[in-house]
Amino acid sequence: MKGKFIAFEGCEGAGKSTQMRLLSETMQKRGIAHVVTREPGGGPISEAIRKIILDGKNAAMTDECEALLYAAARAQHLADVVLPALGRGETVLCDRYIFSSFAYQGYGRGLSLEFLRQINAYAIAACMPDCTLFLDIPPARAFERKHGRDENDRIETAGEAFHRRVYEGYHALLGAYAPQLVAVDCSGTKYETSARIAALLEARGLLG
Ligand code: TYD
Repeated sequence: MKGKFIAFEGCEGAGKSTQMRLLSETMQKRGIAHVVTREPGGGPISEAIRKIILDGKNAAMTDECEALLYAAARAQHLADVVLPALGRGETVLCDRYIFSSFAYQGYGRGLSLEFLRQINAYAIAACMPDCTLFLDIPPARAFERKHGRDENDRIETAGEAFHRRVYEGYHALLGAYAPQLVAVDCSGTKYETSARIAALLEARGLLG
């Protein structure tokens, strides 16, 4: 039996890792076999690609190169981590996936969505998540929660206007990709958000 694939999306500091940890705890209590992973990364080759992409020293990287490296890391991570886990019948919780490329490289950097769809279609070979949760927090609030930006991270330091475009991009994508991409209201406590996520996944038959 093929496992379920759940991806998390959001702006920097939206609380994805906290929510993934809480969901993982819920799954553990229910005896649901699962793996928690992240993009870009999740395996030695894709973690190496991640270092190149995010390294503040690579300021000369073109937007096209950035987009292709994210897609390359995605293809490798899929082969190393996601597909084997799904094949074992486990649920995969993935921090970021294809909609990050549409939001960051598309709306943020201004690359054509058609180009991004093409390179990512090639990278993922039709393996889309059963559900992608967008943790909805505007970037200014998210950076506040996170206590600022990492000055050595090329994406985090891309500027306020960039991160605003990314956030607005996610909202445009929500309209185009519902119901597989769904927003989660994160205005309450982390436990309220976590309960919302569990209820949403439960309703879609993705929690056991
Ligand atoms: P990370 O430190 O994991 O950020 P976060 O905790 O916010 O997820 O770094 C991942 C960065 O890469 C993040 O700034 C978003 C960016 N990114 C893209 O621009 N495109 C992509 O396709 C992916 C997967 C990530």
